Amino acid sequence: MDPYRNPFAPGAGSRPPELAGRDDILEDAKIACGRALLGRNPRSMMLLGLRGTGKTVLLNEIGRIAEKQGYFISKIEAPEHQSLARLLYPEMRKVLRALSSIEATKQLAHRGLRALRGFASIFKIEVAGAEIGVEPQPGLADSGDIQFDLPDLFTAIGKAAKAGGRGWVLLIDEVQYLSEADLSALIVSIHRMSQEGLPVIMVGGGLPQIARLAGEAKSYSERLFLYPGVGALDPASARQAVEKPIVEENAAISPDALTQIVTKTQGYPFFLQEWSSKAWDNAEGSEITKHDVDNAYTETLTSLDDGFFRVRLDRLTPKETEFVTVMASLGNGPYAMSDIAKALGKKLSSLGPVRAKTISKGMIYSTEHGFLDFSVPLFAEFMRRQA
Ligand SMILES: Nc1ncnc2c1ncn2[C@@H]1O[C@H](COP(=O)(O)OP(=O)(O)OP(=O)(O)O)[C@@H](O)[C@H]1O
Ligand SMILES: [Mg+2]
Repeated sequence: MDPYRNPFAPGAGSRPPELAGRDDILEDAKIACGRALLGRNPRSMMLLGLRGTGKTVLLNEIGRIAEKQGYFISKIEAPEHQSLARLLYPEMRKVLRALSSIEATKQLAHRGLRALRGFASIFKIEVAGAEIGVEPQPGLADSGDIQFDLPDLFTAIGKAAKAGGRGWVLLIDEVQYLSEADLSALIVSIHRMSQEGLPVIMVGGGLPQIARLAGEAKSYSERLFLYPGVGALDPASARQAVEKPIVEENAAISPDALTQIVTKTQGYPFFLQEWSSKAWDNAEGSEITKHDVDNAYTETLTSLDDGFFRVRLDRLTPKETEFVTVMASLGNGPYAMSDIAKALGKKLSSLGPVRAKTISKGMIYSTEHGFLDFSVPLFAEFMRRQA
């Protein structure tokens, strides 16, 4: 069919034509935003899911929902090797600058900008433009310990926002890459917001291990955050994700073709978009048939293998690659560490470093004590195809 009208959106963070099966999460986010504006204890959120399940798309959507309620939105992606202070500084600055141009919040925002100035100098962040003339306020956000300074800044922003009937949502993608100190500082800050009834919420997204990382950083984070799982779509939602965009383009998909896509992708959003898109392009008539879908399968697989899967594998060293190759050779996960050690012919105790490095690259995660699994859905099958 006409590729110009192809509604599907394969690609990291691409907004899908139909955001299926996520109504509960979006509703919780909406409620959290509404409550925070009323000064009621909201639950911030951490979206937990494997690669390609739709976390980034959800963060963006939550940003849109919050914006409609009068929130300022900041979105950052945690980098592997950069400090949170540096990353957050321009975002906090932007919000405070916006607040400083509103009459009702001007004074409080100015206090925030002074705090930010102290923060910038202690964390050696370069300031430019109007900030150069701002005098820091001694004792405010300038201890050099992010766990003390970040809550001060959040408080300053929260108070200013509240005075103007506004709020601030901080969206953080790839939370698993934050250092423990940075993650702790964020949790402490959000805790402070909730204690003081200030309209500041954090919505994080990342691999499943962040639930444990957050718990280890601060035990109370369990009560502070909701941890919705962002997984494969249930069959009804997966059908909707594929069929609705097609029908909206005045085209159709036959029932057996639809079932084939939904079943073989196991409802994983990235795969649904990729295959549906290829099936659309392959279809001759205005109805996508089972024949079209089957024809598009090899092409879809090649595209996934060369892109989605390959980029992950390419980040590993030969030793790490050997480790995951052996994992995949054992079948589908989760995998007991002891089985991996046996298959590698190595002592369990010697595998700590390679395991830790592969986890830190976001390739695998520990599902429970002594067990590992891939953080990319269907990755084991991909590895076996390579072999
Ligand atoms: N609810 C949904 N219904 C249909 N398609 C979806 C849904 N959510 C996401 N998608 C599609 O899935 C793909 C992956 O989405 P996204 O990049 O948000 O995943 P992610 O979880 O952030 O992945 P990663 O962990 O690799 O960053 C995109 O092509 C997107 O359009
Ligand atoms: Mg993402």
